[in-house]
Amino acid sequence: MQISPSILSADFANLQHELDAIATADWAHVDVMDAHFVPNLTLGLPVVEALLKVSPIPIDCHLMIDDPDRWAPGYAQAGAQSVTFHIEAATDPVRLARAIRGEGARAAMAIKPGTPFAPYEELLPELDMVLIMTVEPGFGGQKFMADMMPKVRQAREAVRRHGGEIWIQVDGGVAADTIEQCAEAGADVFVAGSAVYGADNPELAVEALRALARA
Ligand code: DX5
Ligand code: ZN
Repeated sequence: MQISPSILSADFANLQHELDAIATADWAHVDVMDAHFVPNLTLGLPVVEALLKVSPIPIDCHLMIDDPDRWAPGYAQAGAQSVTFHIEAATDPVRLARAIRGEGARAAMAIKPGTPFAPYEELLPELDMVLIMTVEPGFGGQKFMADMMPKVRQAREAVRRHGGEIWIQVDGGVAADTIEQCAEAGADVFVAGSAVYGADNPELAVEALRALARA
């Protein structure tokens, strides 16, 4: 059970300090948005490179961008330890996942709420993680979509069938009142933005979420 706080809800003027505040988490989740694939704009490779220099924990890059075939391997090359592309935006996901792994990073595929998992099951051997979105990507602080739990279950069953160590991540609205159902459905990596950075003490929030996920 791993916790990956999203810095989307952090103070962008003090990102080094905000990363230090979650040093006990497993990953720092960095949301890259291009104002094309999603209707929001955040940060790109130069900022990720700067974060990689100071982050006390590995960086989990969630790319909500068009043309990940072109851009995603660069994040792995820069040193991001996990790089997630959206399957809806990828042209050649097999080649892309291999390029990410070829740069030494974990490769992950993300699936929006309206996208089914089944057509992409055959990609599992190329992947280290599947991200099932539990909100429409683009913004932090949205309401958790409990109706995505069957998709998490389906992905977990597929991973079991295929064997191998493929993680299942959930992202969006994950908090103390929603994390248990995600774990129960088969998720093992939990992204939480507002639930961590909106708390008085982010470190305690991480520990509380971890304990609930393990329960
Ligand atoms: C949404 C991003 C999420 C976001 C989650 O598109 O992918 O990572 O930061 O924020 P919360 O946890 O507040 O829903
Ligand atoms: Zn995200």
